[in-house]
Amino acid sequence: NIDSAALTALPKAELHLHIEGTLEPELILALAARNGITLPFPTLETLREQYEFSDLQSFLNLYYANMAVLISEADFADMTRAYLARAKESGVRHVEIMFDPQAHVARGVELSTAVNGIAAALASSEAEFGISTGLIAAFLRDESEESALAVLEALLHMRAPIMGIGLDSAEVGNPPSKFVRLYQRAKEAGLHLVAHAGEEGPPSYVEDALDLLGVERIDHGIRAVEDKFLIKRLVTEQVPLTVCPLSNVRLRAVDTLAAHPLPQMIEAGLNVCVSSDDPAYFGGYVGANFAALVAEFAWDAATVETLARNSIRSSFASAERKSELL
Ligand code: ADE
Ligand code: ZN
Repeated sequence: NIDSAALTALPKAELHLHIEGTLEPELILALAARNGITLPFPTLETLREQYEFSDLQSFLNLYYANMAVLISEADFADMTRAYLARAKESGVRHVEIMFDPQAHVARGVELSTAVNGIAAALASSEAEFGISTGLIAAFLRDESEESALAVLEALLHMRAPIMGIGLDSAEVGNPPSKFVRLYQRAKEAGLHLVAHAGEEGPPSYVEDALDLLGVERIDHGIRAVEDKFLIKRLVTEQVPLTVCPLSNVRLRAVDTLAAHPLPQMIEAGLNVCVSSDDPAYFGGYVGANFAALVAEFAWDAATVETLARNSIRSSFASAERKSELL
């Protein structure tokens, strides 16, 4: 087994991370106080009691409700800086951060407030934390494609420093086919393309994200293991899958960590890497995800090194940055 110091020292890229999912309960309460907001669960104790989830939607309800504390650029910057500090402790050296622009616009927060606040923290990340960064605008698949297109146009118009787009929120019933024009537009604009698929949704959503949206990476993708033809294709094409084990356990996408398909996915030759998804909600950052996996599956250093290397190779970092980290 690899020890925790060696685990941390291994350079890792975090490729599946929702910045709003890094709001720790303590920070939620501090921001609520700073902004004079009264939350439905106004104490640490009552707030913490809410972190018991039965599925993706039960989590999303709390995740969106807690965003109410994000009002100013400083709030977004403080949240992002707090994440970067934690990521550094896990040995993350490169991160591609998703944010949910529509969720903030819907609350009456200006797009520029969210973008500028997050971007301010990212601007000093390399110098302050040794972490290179990219920003991905994730669109809410339970909202309309028109809404997503309007927000994407606004982001392009303001020259927001985004490297790509993603697709998140309630998966089942909101297939990739709903967002073909959005992905076409983003591709025209020269953006990278990723999407959540096969978290709760069927293997066909993974296939459609590749064929209809042209994504370069799949977020989650764990339900791909149900389709052996799809597995074969994902292996052949070496499509990166950003797997989030603690998230899958906490959202009941798998029964237990022991039952998680990740070992089977590695064995099949899939290009998998490990991320934390919404670490403040799911019991830990990248380091905690690796530690739980190593404890559960008694992995040796070679397995962990493969996963870490996959994360760097599958990132959108420059060739120079990748070779620095590999
Ligand atoms: N938004 C934040 N985290 C998410 C997840 N794991 N799946 C879908 N949407 C999300
Ligand atoms: Zn996610």
